[in-house]
Amino acid sequence: MRAFLGIGLPAATREAIVSAIAQARGLHAPVAWTAPENLHITLNFLGEILPERVAIVERSMRVVANGIGPSSLTAEGGGAFPGTRNPRIFWVGFLEPLELVRQLQQNMGNALSGAGFPREDRPFHPHITVGRTRGALPPAWGERFVQALSGKRFGIVPVSSFTLYESRLGPGGAVHTPLCDFRLEGSERRETREEKET
Ligand code: 2AM
Repeated sequence: MRAFLGIGLPAATREAIVSAIAQARGLHAPVAWTAPENLHITLNFLGEILPERVAIVERSMRVVANGIGPSSLTAEGGGAFPGTRNPRIFWVGFLEPLELVRQLQQNMGNALSGAGFPREDRPFHPHITVGRTRGALPPAWGERFVQALSGKRFGIVPVSSFTLYESRLGPGGAVHTPLCDFRLEGSERRETREEKET
């Protein structure tokens, strides 16, 4: 099965993104826009894994979730990978500080690597993929997309848990099914320990 670990978005954030990109969608450029229910932040992509390895992923992710406390991210603006002049992926981004989500992603990567999964070779840029290029775009399309999203706020995304998803690819697009949620409980544990110490 194809699997990844990520963070789902509040409905209000998904709706704000959908309405911000509605104009770009209406131009009928060769872009496969992400279905609103599929909008998410990918933390670690596992790729094809054997179903019997799901239990190992769950066990190691519980340890990670117990070590990190909840935080939140502010979704604002957008960009394109690898760049606005040659866009392949259109995304919505987040304001700094991003240290906590980076730490979470790194701890997950370390735990997965310890459990025998290959490390991700791409650097982590927290983002929400909103579209993927499927053909030649009109000139300056990437720049215009980024300008249209510039300064737009899409709301606060709680980073209070993360999710293991199964991702099925099909002719109608991907279907992401949540398999397991991991609540971030690190700070609660630290508070408990501090309470005990005093
Ligand atoms: P992205 O949106 O951040 O690019 C489910 O397919 C998710 O896994 C996608 O949203 C994508 O995250 C990520 N993904 C898909 N293929 C990948 C790959 N080969 N390497 C890393 N991440 C990938």
